Amino acid sequence: MMSITSLSTFFKKIFPRHSGQSKPTTANTSAIPLIYSLESPKYQLFDLNGENTFSGWVFYFGEKVIAQLAVSTENTPINHFPVNIPRPDIATYVSSIPAAQTCGFSFTLPVLPVSTENIQVDVIFTDGTNAPFFTYDLNYLRVQKPNFIRYQEKMQQIPMPSGELVYLTQGHTFVEEYQNTIIPAVLNMQHYLEKSGVEIKKLQTLLDFGCGSARLLVGWHIISPHVRLYGCDLNTQLIEWAQNNLPEAIHCQLNGLHPPLPYHDRQFDCLYLISVFTHLSLGTQKQWIEEFKRILRIGGHILITLHGELYVQNTFHQQPEKIQEFATTGFVKIGQPTEEGANQYGAYHSFAFVKKLFAGFNIVGYFPKGNETAHNTLFQIAQSQDVYVLQYVGE
Ligand SMILES: C[S@@+](CC[C@H](N)C(=O)[O-])C[C@H]1O[C@@H](n2cnc3c(N)ncnc32)[C@H](O)[C@@H]1O
Repeated sequence: MMSITSLSTFFKKIFPRHSGQSKPTTANTSAIPLIYSLESPKYQLFDLNGENTFSGWVFYFGEKVIAQLAVSTENTPINHFPVNIPRPDIATYVSSIPAAQTCGFSFTLPVLPVSTENIQVDVIFTDGTNAPFFTYDLNYLRVQKPNFIRYQEKMQQIPMPSGELVYLTQGHTFVEEYQNTIIPAVLNMQHYLEKSGVEIKKLQTLLDFGCGSARLLVGWHIISPHVRLYGCDLNTQLIEWAQNNLPEAIHCQLNGLHPPLPYHDRQFDCLYLISVFTHLSLGTQKQWIEEFKRILRIGGHILITLHGELYVQNTFHQQPEKIQEFATTGFVKIGQPTEEGANQYGAYHSFAFVKKLFAGFNIVGYFPKGNETAHNTLFQIAQSQDVYVLQYVGE
């Protein structure tokens, strides 16, 4: 299922460690605009000794049409599988791409030899050309297996919200899917942070701003219990559910649409916003950035996901004046002031705009469309949104 809001709402690389104001080197996975979600098997559910069913959806954001997936291990072809399953739930958000109507795939791989290091999947277009889609690293799975077993055991102890509550943050009502996204998303977030120079082991205090039902904080609690975890959101229903149901180590509090937050000056080493500024006006974003400067320690980090160019192209494909506005100013929005904070309100940022908006911060990591330099990320944290890691260096 699609996660994190819908495509105006749903559409809604790796950097070497570095510091200073220099722009990180970006790489060119953006040259192949694949929009996708690998729905199964999630890392922790991969069966290293059995069959695995790979399912999800993928389409090319442009005119080319994907016909098949070519699957191989260590460059030895295994088989081809069609991309043809109707996915009206996805297509509804991408009316400009007819191929999105049937972008689903599902195939089962037999038990693989124990020595298999990875599974590579390429897309094959109807014109016969191909492009890399994803690589599933089985060595990583083998190393992580004991952790995954432990994470799953801990996860079973933690209550999950109802489908109705899940809908409020994810745009679907599938509780199991919500639960299964947690571990891959937090591992992925930690990966983005580490690639940007953040040492997860040294993190002491972390805030999830716009935490919803604290989905991702549950993952941090399971994977990195050494971190003191805080979450806040303006949705009373979600925060009350989190306060009443989740482990005490996850501290959730209600906040307003605008600052302040109930936290001390310099309380946090790191904070993150997953698909939150994507629904706030520029004025409100600026107020929050000032508040983040108060509660972050100097040298602390923000990880933020934002709608980039891809979302602009999709949302405004029938409004060229909006695309032009984005090209000129680096920012564009959709929605009424009364809709701020909800999925109907959309905000879109270019890299250059983000750099100016977050004065006092250095961009130390940038993952366009959620991807890394050399390859597509297996489990993105916010469907094809741009991911930034910013370091607060002070005014
Ligand atoms: C797309 S949901 C993501 C929820 C959560 N981060 C996750 O990944 O599961 C966006 C969340 O941002 C919250 N939000 C929007 N504006 C906010 C604000 N000004 N302060 C706090 N939360 C806000 C919404 O209530 C919603 O729960």
